[in-house]
Amino acid sequence: MRWADVVALRQSTREFTAEMPARDAIGRIVRAGRMAPISMHRNASYTIAVVTEADTIDAWRAEFCAKVKDTDPFYGAPLLFVVAGAAEIEPEMRAADAACIVDHMLLAATAEGLGSVFICGAVRLLGAQADYIGRLALPAGTVPIAAAAVGHAATALLPREVSEIGTNWPDA
Ligand SMILES: Cc1cc2nc3c(=O)[nH]c(=O)nc-3n(C[C@H](O)[C@H](O)[C@H](O)COP(=O)(O)O)c2cc1C
Repeated sequence: MRWADVVALRQSTREFTAEMPARDAIGRIVRAGRMAPISMHRNASYTIAVVTEADTIDAWRAEFCAKVKDTDPFYGAPLLFVVAGAAEIEPEMRAADAACIVDHMLLAATAEGLGSVFICGAVRLLGAQADYIGRLALPAGTVPIAAAAVGHAATALLPREVSEIGTNWPDA
């Protein structure tokens, strides 16, 4: 897919089918995440947990519904890429680094023809002591920061207009 098409098609999908994306596509998405820019070369302080087990996603969703709000924070996506980082990294830099990783994966998912959405709420609102964290098998000393939920979009992705983000430069 051409770059211009990838950025035009990248958009938050909030209705997924249950079909798991192909293993090769999952590999390319996680590889893109691992090539994201990271502050102060601290790449080794981050991990991407690829979650394909329905039991894990179901338990996380159930915890969110019980403790936060009775709604599916993953919109039925069968696949999550959870970014975790070393707990000692400053929270602002941790969030910025994780956002770079997640956005790389959202764009890679789009290039695969898949739907995707940035997920913060299900991490942030459950906090560092949440039960689901134990199921992610994260490296010791790391905490979940954000995630990408990915899957086949229930309805086709359509190219979008440029957003309201301002600029002093004419678009190409
Ligand atoms: C840091 C960040 C956190 C987000 N967290 C969530 C989230 O928890 N749940 C959700 O549905 N969307 C979340 N989003 C997606 C935004 O709501 C979405 O990107 C925004 O509405 C613009 O829509 P678009 O992605 O279609 O361009 C998040 C986006 C960012 C950048």
